[in-house]
Amino acid sequence: MSDPKKLFIKTYGCQMNVYDSERMAEALGTSGYETTNAPEDADMILLNTCHIREKAAEKIYSELGRFKGLKQGNPDLKIGVAGCVAQAEGAEIMRRQPMVDLVVGPQSYHRLPAMEAKTRAGEKALDTDFPEEDKFDHLPKRPKPTRGPTAFLTVQEGCDKFCAFCVVPYTRGAEVSRPVDRILTEARDLVERGVREITLLGQNVNAYHGASDGGDWTLSRLIWALNDIDGLERIRFTTSHPNDMDDALIAAHGECDKLMPYLHLPVQSGSDNILKAMNRKHTAEQYIRLIERIRAVRPDILLSGDFIVGFPGETDQDFEDTMSLVREVNYGQAYSFKYSTRPGTPASEKPQIDNDLASNRLHKLQGLLTQQQRAVQESMIGKTVKVLFEKPGRLEGQMVGKSEYLHAVHAVAPNVSRGEIHPVRITYSESNSLGGELA
Ligand code: 5AD
Ligand code: SF4
Repeated sequence: MSDPKKLFIKTYGCQMNVYDSERMAEALGTSGYETTNAPEDADMILLNTCHIREKAAEKIYSELGRFKGLKQGNPDLKIGVAGCVAQAEGAEIMRRQPMVDLVVGPQSYHRLPAMEAKTRAGEKALDTDFPEEDKFDHLPKRPKPTRGPTAFLTVQEGCDKFCAFCVVPYTRGAEVSRPVDRILTEARDLVERGVREITLLGQNVNAYHGASDGGDWTLSRLIWALNDIDGLERIRFTTSHPNDMDDALIAAHGECDKLMPYLHLPVQSGSDNILKAMNRKHTAEQYIRLIERIRAVRPDILLSGDFIVGFPGETDQDFEDTMSLVREVNYGQAYSFKYSTRPGTPASEKPQIDNDLASNRLHKLQGLLTQQQRAVQESMIGKTVKVLFEKPGRLEGQMVGKSEYLHAVHAVAPNVSRGEIHPVRITYSESNSLGGELA
C-alpha cells in the first residue's frame, strides 16, 4: 500500500470552521489523506477561510503567496481554498492566484473527494453551490478515533436575519437546521469516543428548528434530549440572537442540569438608533429585560456578547448608550470590533465614520469590558467550581480545563486524567484564566 498522502489545513475564524475542518479531514481521509501540522510535508494545503471582518480576502491572497515556494519545490502539491472567502470570491481566487487548484464553499465539503481526484487529473476544481442535500449527511464515515473531552457539533447553519453589516447570510446562505436524529446519533457517537462536553454550533443556533418524527424541535427540546445521554456531562450552544431566546430556552437555563451557566448573546450596540440601522429588530431595553429574565432563572450565569463600534452614523451619544448598556449588563467576557465594510452588505453603501474616532471608541469599550471581565474573574476567588480537565498545563503536574462558566482553570492535579470533572477552589486570577487547588 502506498504511504498516506498528507493534508495540512489552516483554519481561520469561528468555531464552525473548526468543526468544518475536522469534517474536511474526514472526507479526504477516504481519499487516502492523513493530517499533518507541517505545510512543507503536505500533498494538499487547504485554507479554511473567514470573511466576517477586515480585509479577509487580501490576507488569504498574501498567505497563498507564501506557499508559492512549496508549490515550485513540489509540483504534486495541491492548494485549496475553502470557507467563506471561497464562497464570496469563487473563481476570482484562481484568476488572481493561478496556483490554486481547488475552491470549495462551505456547503460543498462532501464533494471534496471527487474534487481532489479532479485536481490529481490536472484540472481545477470549483464548487460554491448551495446544494439541497445535507453536507454532513454525505460525508463518508471513517474508523472512529477516540477524542478529547470536548467537541463541537453543528446543528444549524446560515442566517435569515440580514443584519446590515454582516456577510453571513450571503456566504453561509439561508438558515438550515439539521434533523434531530442525525444530531442525536452524532452526539451519542461523540460520547462513546470520550466526549464529555458538546457545544452546539450555529450562526443562529437558537433559531434551530430541526425536523423529527414528531414535528419540528426547538433548540431547548434538543438540549433536553441531549441531557438524557448518559456519559455526556455538559451542554453549551453558540451563537444566539436575542430575538430567538424563547421562554423554553430561558427556562432550560434554570432547569436543565447539563446546560452550563454561560451564554453568548450578542447585542452589537446599546443605541436604539444604531440597532435600527443595523436591522437588529430589537431595542436596547428589550435586550436588558431579556438578560433580567435569564438571570432570574440562573443568577450566576456568565454573560458574553459581541459589539461593533463605529457603525455608519454612530454619534458620541450612540456610543455612550453602548457604554451604558455594558455597565448595566456587566459581562464576564465579550468580543468587540471596529466596524469594517463588507462588500455587498447594506451598511457598506453608507458614509463611513472617521477611523480614528472609531479606534478611540473601541479602545474605551475594550477598557470597560476588560475591567468587567477582570472583576468577574476576581469574584471567583475563594469559590469552588467544577472543572472538566482537558490537557496538561505548562507546569509539572498541572492540568488545565474549563469551569462551568467557561473560565480556563489551572490546577496542580498529577493524578487527574483528561475528561475527568473535579471541584477546584479558585485561589488566583490571571488575565485570561483562573488557578486553584483540587478541593
Ligand atoms: N464589522 C465588524 N464586526 C462584524 N461582525 C460581523 N460583521 C462585522 C463587520 N462588518 C461581528 C459581530 C458578530 C461577530 C461574529 O462579528 O459582532 O456578532
Ligand atoms: Fe450576521 Fe448574526 Fe446578524 Fe445573522 S444574526 S446577519 S449571522 S450578525
